[in-house]
Amino acid sequence: MIIVLIGPPGSGKGTQAGILVEKLGLPHLSTGDMLRKISAQGGAEAEKLARCISEGKLVPSGLINDIVRKVLSSNECSSGYLLDGYPRSIVQAKFLAKIAQQDIKVLYFKADEQVIIKRILGRFSCKNCEKIYNEHYDKPKIEGVCDQCGHKEFVYRKDDNKETIIKRIKEYKKSTYPVIKYYKDHGGFFGIDANQSKEEVALEVDRVLKRV
Ligand code: AP5
Repeated sequence: MIIVLIGPPGSGKGTQAGILVEKLGLPHLSTGDMLRKISAQGGAEAEKLARCISEGKLVPSGLINDIVRKVLSSNECSSGYLLDGYPRSIVQAKFLAKIAQQDIKVLYFKADEQVIIKRILGRFSCKNCEKIYNEHYDKPKIEGVCDQCGHKEFVYRKDDNKETIIKRIKEYKKSTYPVIKYYKDHGGFFGIDANQSKEEVALEVDRVLKRV
């Protein structure tokens, strides 16, 4: 099965993807994570990418489609995968429809703007294992120590500031809203109330996936 997690920045796609991969054993493919890794490598192309991300714009679809095509053709993805943050434009959705080998199920994480802004401004992650935390909702059990790997350094994303969040939400409304309509029209589409707590969202996702 192919599961697509779609929703505004901060709606909890990455968090729920982390929970789902444990349960389903599918590979978690986050285009945001892939692009951040490439943009940290240095060089002119990487700098262009980093600029795009820090300005809250989508990177060109040609580039992201090439990356996704390569990843999806690997053996690891042959029995399905979990896509987090892709597709987020109609061009990308049509590209996925062409190369996907299995049924696509879309989980749409719907959340209010005030909710997602608070979440994004509170997000940080472990510098070593990249586990995601939140200052307001999900702190490490022992302050300053990662629950998962015991590391003591944490990082904030450069695009998690008020100015860039507003731009990311704008870009989401312009490019990704049409993708939601596209999937509603094509079936296999399920809405999730992502304003709820992490645990409640996970339960709703479970209920939906049992029905498909
Ligand atoms: P990407 O990394 O995909 O960012 P995003 O879509 O803006 O989504 P986020 O990662 O901000 O949020 P999320 O929904 O995963 O929330 P999370 O679970 O972390 O993309 C970054 C950039 O890369 C884009 O702007 C673009 O430039 C580029 N890009 C990526 N994909 C692209 C593509 N396909 N095409 C073109 N360009 C692309 O949760 C957020 C916080 O809230 C965390 O701290 C978490 O602990 C907390 N939290 C989560 N759920 C809950 C809950 N239910 N209750 C309370 N707190 C919660």
